[in-house]
Amino acid sequence: MDITNKVAVVTGGASGIGQATCSRLARDGVRAIAVVDVSPATAAYCEEVNGRLGQETLFPFSGDVVDAAFRERVFTEMEERFGWVQLCVPAAGITLDRLGVKIAQQNGTPRLDIYSEADFRRVLEVDLVAPIYWALRCVGSVAIQRARRGLKQWVPEELVQGAVVLIGSVSSAGNRGQISYATAKAGLEGAQATLAKEAIYHGVRCAIIHPGFTDTPMVRAMGEDMIRNNVLPHTQLKRLIRPEEIAEAICFLLRNSSVSGSLWADAGWHPTA
Ligand SMILES: NC(=O)c1ccc[n+]([C@@H]2O[C@H](COP(=O)([O-])OP(=O)(O)OC[C@H]3O[C@@H](n4cnc5c(N)ncnc54)[C@H](O)[C@@H]3O)[C@@H](O)[C@H]2O)c1
Repeated sequence: MDITNKVAVVTGGASGIGQATCSRLARDGVRAIAVVDVSPATAAYCEEVNGRLGQETLFPFSGDVVDAAFRERVFTEMEERFGWVQLCVPAAGITLDRLGVKIAQQNGTPRLDIYSEADFRRVLEVDLVAPIYWALRCVGSVAIQRARRGLKQWVPEELVQGAVVLIGSVSSAGNRGQISYATAKAGLEGAQATLAKEAIYHGVRCAIIHPGFTDTPMVRAMGEDMIRNNVLPHTQLKRLIRPEEIAEAICFLLRNSSVSGSLWADAGWHPTA
């Protein structure tokens, strides 16, 4: 699919993988990109890239991806301005890592300490429910536009009309300390597999990428010792992946209409049991 002059929504666009994806999409000629993030740095990033490009390509939207009214505002504003949204990369994500079960000592007595249910639900909201709903809204944007033109089931002569790339993780296969995050990321696989089957009715493809440990604030927050001792030894590259490498793979997935499944961009991640 030719992505030039298309309209995109990228969540988590103010940092890390989302930001690298926005920059790459802009460089590759995408007409307009809604850069969605809760971070106050969103507007400044958009301004900086637009200044470099000499045109308004990045449009900042500040808010929480979990907020359905905010999501609707982003899509409605982009649709009013550009007609429809054909590309979506819902990359906003969080981690609230901790072992599932711990034994704490209280006055010399062992006490059971189980992972917080509130944290579990928050991670699922941000990392699982939200990306699926941003993806569905993008498919909806293409679907309603085609319906208005009297089109029903997509036919190949129309060419592919849109693409969604969900952001999984190597942790979807299980990772110590990530009971909530791993569950969310594994859940996205089911969503991708279903959307791949459903959304093509409207001419939209859906793929998922599973990045390995990538050099972003999310991973740096783990601490240098943790990265050096528990991450790098378990990769083939012995370094963190650069966000630009993942962004390039995301753009490949958006473009290449033969892909309908998952791509593991994991730097050869092979953790021990
Ligand atoms: N960095 C890695 O190693 C790695 C590996 C696999 C998958 N991922 C996934 O890639 C995606 C991007 O992660 P990253 O490493 O670039 O992290 P990051 O922390 O650099 O960026 C995440 C962005 O999401 C935004 N965000 C978080 N919660 C939000 C919310 N509720 N509403 C709006 N914005 C919100 C943050 O403000 C931040 O700008 C995430 O989905 C993450 O799970 C990252």
